[in-house]
Amino acid sequence: MPDPNSLLAWYDRHRRDLPWRAPPGARADPYRVWLSEIMLQQTTVVTVAPYFDRFVARWPDVFALAAASLDAVLHQWQGLGYYARARNLHACARVVAERHGGRFPDDAAGLRALPGIGDYTAAAIAAIAFDRREAAVDGNVERVVARLFAVREAMPAAKPRLRALARELVPARRAGDFAQAMMDLGATICTPRRPRCVLCPWREDCAARAGGFAEDLPARGEKPERALRR
Ligand code: ADE
Repeated sequence: MPDPNSLLAWYDRHRRDLPWRAPPGARADPYRVWLSEIMLQQTTVVTVAPYFDRFVARWPDVFALAAASLDAVLHQWQGLGYYARARNLHACARVVAERHGGRFPDDAAGLRALPGIGDYTAAAIAAIAFDRREAAVDGNVERVVARLFAVREAMPAAKPRLRALARELVPARRAGDFAQAMMDLGATICTPRRPRCVLCPWREDCAARAGGFAEDLPARGEKPERALRR
């Protein structure tokens, strides 16, 4: 079983410096975590960063965002796309400000009930902002887990199994750092093409690397015949 502490030690040395991350050891601000996770839905870290900075400069907390007009929020969102996210963002800020006293719910189920927050985002916020033992499993994390445990079953059928394995990995302490470490590992080391296994903190624990087939995972399902012919 791969040791979560090996990944956490790697994260302490190599974590990406992202504007929504709390400094090492500091408590995360749930507002910033939530805002970043909504922006990061369907959008890359590089694109999100300047938008995130502008949003928090203009609306430093959930009360400020709740008091903003929807037009102002949509205008500030311009260029990020998927505008339903901006509408839900604004609706969510109002719910948290008006019905929760400005405090985000501190577990995944409570977060999941808010506008714009699905299973992945609820898990990510619960882990990162509140250190809940939740696994935020996106495509990057699925890839890491498929390789670690050499899950050869094709996607998307493998999803439930990958999710269960990802949950088992989450340590009781530092679940938020662990979630972000998994994201960083998938983004910088355990990449879809040519993974940089020599730099991986789990290189000795990875079943796919041991078998020499890391790059082939996760396995894609049979392509439709039309796609094969092209
Ligand atoms: N993708 C989704 N959430 C993220 C986060 N908190 N940090 C980096 N990449 C992410």
